[in-house]
Amino acid sequence: MAGCGNDGGSGSGGLDVGIVLPTKDETRWVQDETRFQEALADSDYSTEILFSQGSSAKEKENVETLISKGMDVLIIAPHDGAAAGAAVEAAKDEGIPVISYDRLITDTDALDYYVTFDSVAVGEAQGQYLVDNAEGDGIPLYLYAGAASDNNAFLFFEGAWKALQPKIADGTFVIANSSAAEGLKDKAELDRQEIGSIVGQLTTNWDPNEAKNKAETHLTSAGPDLKGDVSVLAPNDGTARAISDVFASDGAVTSYTITGQDADMASIQYIIDGKQTMTVFKDVRTLVEDAMGMAVDIIDGNTPETTATYDNGSMEVKAKQTDVIVVDQDNVKAELIDSGYYEASDFTGLE
Ligand code: GAL
Repeated sequence: MAGCGNDGGSGSGGLDVGIVLPTKDETRWVQDETRFQEALADSDYSTEILFSQGSSAKEKENVETLISKGMDVLIIAPHDGAAAGAAVEAAKDEGIPVISYDRLITDTDALDYYVTFDSVAVGEAQGQYLVDNAEGDGIPLYLYAGAASDNNAFLFFEGAWKALQPKIADGTFVIANSSAAEGLKDKAELDRQEIGSIVGQLTTNWDPNEAKNKAETHLTSAGPDLKGDVSVLAPNDGTARAISDVFASDGAVTSYTITGQDADMASIQYIIDGKQTMTVFKDVRTLVEDAMGMAVDIIDGNTPETTATYDNGSMEVKAKQTDVIVVDQDNVKAELIDSGYYEASDFTGLE
């Protein structure tokens, strides 16, 4: 990334780009930190990455720290999409442009841009994978969701429901663990409040421990008719591994098809070992490239390229959206090794 110095923006000559990520406790965001560092290794732009450790108060503090360092542009993935409004409004009050990263910040007009993956397509890919791998009918379907404070969790579930609902309605799948979803099974399109009622029941809060506890509770209360060969919608890789371990330890579950997201290295090993069935690969290198490209455009006084808009409840946010790729045992090598995302030596048993 060619340099232009650090006084192009309104940040009075300090830090060029401030980057705030939700937490270091989840593999996904450590991945982003690594990819930012790789992308910025030979950059002339000064950047700083701070983590909010799952706290909106810490997040606001991080943004204030970066403002005090004269930040020109803020790139932020919110811990809680609605609660992050206060932090970005503080940046806005200082005339600092804000780029929402991966997750949309909602109910504020303090955003300038949004870079993300197609989150509805992520959920649709997960749901379609379960549909494509369904044999027979009456298949017990266990549903899990992300954190209700994350706008993406609604988009993931909206996409998954689009693929799964027709197959729930025709009896291919039987919902095993949600009265809210059962009550809506004949409805093809759900509104935000309806998705919220299901996410509320099935949320993992993106926490593998919470996912494990929920799966244990569901399997403990499930009768033999809800075991055997089952299908599991797990929202991301961190929760998928925890849920997979629980299903693997239940003797009455003879087989399970389980989804994921993020292509965490540990989940790629699970996929190679047959303990997780698929993941949705989101090439974080592209997201980093898009976010930094936008920040540099802004610093240089150019208008960043955008490909979509998102209604965040207060404004239409101009966005750049990237496609996603389904990965399972058949294409791990092609999508993740040949693309240079990971090394073959990172795994065992890779053919
Ligand atoms: C989502 C993100 C996913 C996921 C999750 C957990 O917003 O898009 O990649 O891993 O958060 O942090």
